[in-house]
Amino acid sequence: MASQASQVLVAANRGPLSYTLADDGTLGTRRGGGGLVSGLSAALAEQPEALWICAALSEGDREAVRRGVSEPGVRMLDIDPAVYDDAYNGISNSVLWFTHHGLYNIPREPVFDSEFRRRWDSYRTYNRAFAEALAAEAAEGAAVLIQDYHLSLAPGMLRDLRPDLRIAHFTHTPWATSEHLDMLPDEVRRELLWGMLGADRLGFHTWGWAHRFMSAAHLEDERGIAEPKMPSGPAERYIQQSRRSKVRHRRTDVAVYPLGVDADELRALAHRPEVDDRLAGLRAEVGDRKTIVRVDRTELSKNIVRGLLAYRELLTAHPEWHGRVVHLASAYPSRQDLAVYRDYTATVTAVVDEINTKFGTADWQPVLVSVKDDFARSLAAYRLADVALINPVQDGMNLVAKEIPVVSEAGCALVLSTGAGAYDELRKDALTVNPYDVSETAEALHEALTMSAAERAERTKRLAAAATAMPPATWFTTQLTDLRGS
Ligand code: F6P
Repeated sequence: MASQASQVLVAANRGPLSYTLADDGTLGTRRGGGGLVSGLSAALAEQPEALWICAALSEGDREAVRRGVSEPGVRMLDIDPAVYDDAYNGISNSVLWFTHHGLYNIPREPVFDSEFRRRWDSYRTYNRAFAEALAAEAAEGAAVLIQDYHLSLAPGMLRDLRPDLRIAHFTHTPWATSEHLDMLPDEVRRELLWGMLGADRLGFHTWGWAHRFMSAAHLEDERGIAEPKMPSGPAERYIQQSRRSKVRHRRTDVAVYPLGVDADELRALAHRPEVDDRLAGLRAEVGDRKTIVRVDRTELSKNIVRGLLAYRELLTAHPEWHGRVVHLASAYPSRQDLAVYRDYTATVTAVVDEINTKFGTADWQPVLVSVKDDFARSLAAYRLADVALINPVQDGMNLVAKEIPVVSEAGCALVLSTGAGAYDELRKDALTVNPYDVSETAEALHEALTMSAAERAERTKRLAAAATAMPPATWFTTQLTDLRGS
């Protein structure tokens, strides 16, 4: 065990920062991306003693590990790049992400062959590297909070190495339906569930995702693999698990912690001079037209293409909007190592071009798209939003749905699909849509654009209140307290 053993540890694939390596060999830093990183970074700002274990993602990160460069409270693991690539691209993003979000194009995929099994072995190695590092760094009885689908096996592995620890796992994505989970080879599905059940507590953003997990554990029990019992409790439910072999008997609690946003921090970020500049630029482009805003990674689950098709249908069905509305779409690149993501990005661009060519005029461009991960521009778009379009097919939470109502200046109407985790908390004041129904989404956009200012303001107030109910620091400390107390 390390001499400076930690009492609180977090493990996630991404760290709070990432290193860049310049041609002259100097190392720079930049903030890690994604909802998980922003939520955890905000939460850990109030836990200065905590240790965040993450993977080295880039050559810059690996070089930093080699040179012994690190930030306080962060330990990067230099996992063999080939193993990392198999685990991150080959399994986490190509198999588990698709399974949990139900994204497969079924006639062609998935294919579970020997190559898949080789990659699965790398996924195990990657999870073991985290489990070993956590075991080495944790003080006796420490609390360990493991994050997301990249690290589904780590709880069980860590349990075997350090039975004294309190172990939590939080899933930031949906959990798969049983139909999708059952596509996995039996031994892989069991290993996945058994790895997760190594935790003392499992956290999800919604009860919908949590129930899917519990049903999967029940089903596995009926098949004779685990033995979950699930009494119904008011705020919490749990799974009692034991192996038929009676090797261990433990209890895993399942709970829901819907991550929200910190209103003060977000508003402060949204009013920096840099954002004011971007806002002035956007205002000049948009003029006095209404805005429909979306901000996403170019990610299959976000349903950007159907969102654009809905906008196209709005312009077709309601020509009165020609020249009077602009769709501000930030769709910045993600996971470009995977062909399916590159293809999706190309489709988004093609549909944007088609809409602009078909409807655009000399003084009106219907869609203004930004493909840069430019947080300042996104915040400026949030401030300008009359309508927010959030239509994922499935999404663990979707923090953008919570951020826009907090920041929008004139109040925004939220068009929200049933697939977003945020739907549970925001649906009463949103215009809700089936993510696959383009016509319904087009009509919801029309309704949102025509909503009276007074109603928009009222709804926005309630949306912002719901969005800020569990800011990141509370989200984290509640889990920590529950973990220590359970
Ligand atoms: O949705 C879960 C999540 O972990 C997000 O927090 C994050 O944006 C994404 O998945 C992971 O993305 P990446 O592959 O870029 O790390």
